[in-house]
Amino acid sequence: MKSQRFLKFYQSESEKYHGLRYGGLYGKLFKTLHHEALSGFLVQADNSEPILEIACGTGHTTGLLVKEGFDVIACDLTPGMMQRVSEQTGDQHEKVSFVRMDAFKLPFPDACVSTVVSTRFLHLFPADEQELIITEMYRVLKPGGVVLVDFDSWVHRWCWALPFALYNLLRYQRLAPYSIYNRIGRTITMASRVGFSDIKVDGIGGAQLLLPALISGSTALKVGRMHRRSVLRLIADQFMVCGKKY
Ligand SMILES: C[S@@+](CC[C@H](N)C(=O)[O-])C[C@H]1O[C@@H](n2cnc3c(N)ncnc32)[C@H](O)[C@@H]1O
Repeated sequence: MKSQRFLKFYQSESEKYHGLRYGGLYGKLFKTLHHEALSGFLVQADNSEPILEIACGTGHTTGLLVKEGFDVIACDLTPGMMQRVSEQTGDQHEKVSFVRMDAFKLPFPDACVSTVVSTRFLHLFPADEQELIITEMYRVLKPGGVVLVDFDSWVHRWCWALPFALYNLLRYQRLAPYSIYNRIGRTITMASRVGFSDIKVDGIGGAQLLLPALISGSTALKVGRMHRRSVLRLIADQFMVCGKKY
């Protein structure tokens, strides 16, 4: 039922999705910081094997993965979103194969891939469902495999509750968007409960970067990079979790 709701929403959103999320001043800054964090963690991934990307959307992360030399099995629920991935992968598009699927029941055998990546996806689900999806990711990973996932941050959303409420009213004509906000500590506990170890967390972006971005892009990037690992990651917009299956 919920999958049908998301399918309908993202099918209608597919044309404007990329421009809205990654086109504006903050979107571009976020994209750079997000890609830097992904690249930093990807050094742990085995590039002789394809990466399984869950909920590839319009290819924001797929584009980076092929640029980094990986073959990608790109999966999503929504055909309209996947149809736009070539806009991000360009002449490397043959490195991507597509599977339409539901992340709650991955159509892959146990221990078949060495890296699973999923970006800007798990915030669609409450904690118990996030855990089900992460358990599926764990199942398809080989021992020694790496998972990379991200979450919307609870602290950031509460710091910016009022502007976000106004934004959501204007953007979605409702107060609450499809978003669940996670706490870093509880998320690490959840990933450990599923079985992951060596868990590392990077903070990415934050509405507080808008002011430096208005002054200069390079200043905003410098400040944004401080949000990766320092205490500032607590107020970052999102956090990326990297874990290993042993
Ligand atoms: C916010 S977009 C993220 C897209 C992309 N990963 C990014 O970083 O921009 C969420 C994506 O999740 C997909 N999706 C929603 N529910 C899904 C499910 N149950 N299984 C697989 N994909 C799903 C949607 O079709 C959409 O493309």
